[in-house]
Amino acid sequence: MDTVLVLDFGAQYSQLIARRVRECRVYSELVPYDMPVDEIAARGPKGIILSGGPASVYADDALSIDPALFELGIPVLGICYGMQLMAHTLGGTVTRTGKSEFGKTRLKINKEVALFNDLPAEQTCWMSHRDSVTAAPESFEVTASTASSPVAVMESPARRMFGIQCHPEVVHTPYGTDVIKNFLFGPCHCQPEWTTVSIIEDSVAQIRGQVGGEKVVCGLSGGVDSSTAALLVYRAIGKNLTCIFVDHGLLRKNEAEQVIDAFENHFHVPLVHVQAQERFLSRLAGVTDPEQKRKIIGEEFIRVFEEEAARLEGARFLVQGTLYSDVIESGTRDAARIKSHHNVGGLPVDMDLKLVEPLRHIFKDEARSVAAELGLPDQMVWRQPFPGPGLAIRIIGEVTGERLDILREADYILQEEVRRAGLYRELWQSFCVLPAIRSVGVMGDERTYAYPVIIRAVTSEDAMTADWARLPYDLLEAISSRIINEVPGVNRVALDISSKPPSTIEWE
Ligand code: XMP
Repeated sequence: MDTVLVLDFGAQYSQLIARRVRECRVYSELVPYDMPVDEIAARGPKGIILSGGPASVYADDALSIDPALFELGIPVLGICYGMQLMAHTLGGTVTRTGKSEFGKTRLKINKEVALFNDLPAEQTCWMSHRDSVTAAPESFEVTASTASSPVAVMESPARRMFGIQCHPEVVHTPYGTDVIKNFLFGPCHCQPEWTTVSIIEDSVAQIRGQVGGEKVVCGLSGGVDSSTAALLVYRAIGKNLTCIFVDHGLLRKNEAEQVIDAFENHFHVPLVHVQAQERFLSRLAGVTDPEQKRKIIGEEFIRVFEEEAARLEGARFLVQGTLYSDVIESGTRDAARIKSHHNVGGLPVDMDLKLVEPLRHIFKDEARSVAAELGLPDQMVWRQPFPGPGLAIRIIGEVTGERLDILREADYILQEEVRRAGLYRELWQSFCVLPAIRSVGVMGDERTYAYPVIIRAVTSEDAMTADWARLPYDLLEAISSRIINEVPGVNRVALDISSKPPSTIEWE
């Protein structure tokens, strides 16, 4: 399979570049900017993309590149900082001209060489830079410019090296995907072979190679990720797989029954249902710190799986539905830890089971395509994500039985109303949050002092960024009045109107 590696120089949205490449049906992966050149060569990529980054090439702590990378004979595309680094390393000039460009900018194409083949001669692009390339290295042609960047695009078809100051990976660059396609299918000679079917075939072969004839357990939550991971592993090793559904007491109303039902109707894999409510809730008693909650839950999950695996003739492997976004958000070496996803950063160090994670390099939308191809029913494919730590990270402060009941009832109403309005599938997620404050209200002429419930509904492509959903007022009114009237202990409903970034989707 043709692969394009994206070297991550710390841009906020480096993973978007990998996404765009995959949308062109070419496999792409984000790797650290300083991956040794021989390791890169050993991966045999058809192309290399240098991401943007926050630094200046002249900063003391500037991330640099091994010049040997440019001697591999592999096509390279530098984006923003990646272009500046390419120019700086190959003998061009980068200058702080005092003419920064942020946001939409007009780009004028002077010459079609490779990147702008068959694209309009003038177009909008999205810029975000202070430094600029002021002289391209020898053998490069300057093929596009903007009012403030005379060298906005530089290309060396002979060396198959290209630099672009603007960001083709963002939607605000309307021809951005075409530029990426021109790079992939022009100088890189990639074949568009990264398809759902190829993902399945590759995963099945990898799983067989990893686990051989051993017994394997799979932590099944009922969501699309773990169900898809389970189906892939089942396809690879059949009856050696047992699924384990852990009820940790942090599920939504009726969720356990629904998951068991859906599973038994659609799968032929043995399922163990573990009732672990008490052990999770007792470990969470008195805990208010979000990261501590996540660590406790992550660890407790593993302990349950280890116990169940020991019962199953000593299974040594644990399947998880970890996605690429979980991995990135839990903190890679070059990206800060935002929160410890229970199945990545929340894992105990001394776990006995070896992980099998067939979706670790896959984005949510890709997982959904795989799920549909594997025959998962629509209602499971399109289920909104629900985090492993469950309601614990939607209850701010201590998780108690009483507070869980309040949140469960409120959330149930919200789900009903969102579905009734026909908006369930349009929203990435919609749920309620219970903060740790109370406020004064009046009900039936009496004073109340009760919790508010917060409505959180977002649209998103992959959970890496999200926008707050513009829910219709009528729907908001129906949710609010039903929650206040039907859920004891609540006297107020508020709406979260924050995007990600700077907020996150979940409150903890
Ligand atoms: P945030 O809150 O970081 O969430 O914007 C991004 C997406 O990840 C989900 N999420 C989790 N999923 N285990 C999971 O399985 C976790 O620990 C976890 N934390 C957040 C969240 O619901 C959203 O879809």
